[in-house]
Amino acid sequence: MGTEQEISRAPIGVFDSGVGGLTVAREIMRNLPNEHIVYFGDTARVPYGSKSKDTIIRFSRQIIRFLQTQEVKAIVIACNTASALALDEVEKEFDIPIIGVVKPGARVAAAATKNRRIGVIGTESTINSHMYPRLIHEQDPDITVFEKPCPLFVPLVEEGWLKDSVTEEVAKRYLDELLAQDIDSLILGCTHYPLLRSLIRGIVGEQVNLVNPAYETAKELELLLKEKHLENPGTKAPVNEPYRFFVSDAANKFKNFANSILPYDIETTRKIHIEEY
Ligand code: DGL
Repeated sequence: MGTEQEISRAPIGVFDSGVGGLTVAREIMRNLPNEHIVYFGDTARVPYGSKSKDTIIRFSRQIIRFLQTQEVKAIVIACNTASALALDEVEKEFDIPIIGVVKPGARVAAAATKNRRIGVIGTESTINSHMYPRLIHEQDPDITVFEKPCPLFVPLVEEGWLKDSVTEEVAKRYLDELLAQDIDSLILGCTHYPLLRSLIRGIVGEQVNLVNPAYETAKELELLLKEKHLENPGTKAPVNEPYRFFVSDAANKFKNFANSILPYDIETTRKIHIEEY
């Protein structure tokens, strides 16, 4: 990469197993409008949430190598599973600032709870890593954390069943157990889950605070860019394709989904062979 000024104009790399990370990209777009984004959704290999740590580290390495070919200046792992299982490892290996979503989510939930009883929902791999309770206890060891894997949520979201009665029935079964524990905060510990926010809200009621780690992640990214003098100063001239999207499969399906949740329309989504990286 070139001069300091050119580097600050470089995009942010954002990745997830599929569409879930768009909930994080959306927050970055809202909060950091000068920043450009290269998004990668690993649609050929979704779901990540049932895979082993080694596999998730291998996938994350490949994606980071691909994003580096796009000359990104920083990377956001917009996936709780990869943040919980691979962030510590890839942070050591790559010479580029990388942040995940789990630390910001744990921090904001620990600060928000009043009764010190927090629920966490996520994929099986995220929950089995117990990364959320570990990081919450670093903030406050007196908080009790109740965890519940919700493996059916990701396929239901990828299918677009965001307000379906089947999804609602599944959500009730998953959440009843947590609600019985008198939690006052619930971490949506998978980036697909904010897409089910209104359905989940209907089940947990107004008294439970729903924590979406995406907001806090966008703030952490802002701080990181400031600290490293990497903020994009912006330009007056319109930039060709400030947001670029890549997937490992089914580009059109991804594009249609993305257009239903992002505040603007994506024109192209490109398919790449991620195994080559
Ligand atoms: N959206 C991802 C997460 O935040 C992964 C979902 C999956 O692929 O299982 O955990």
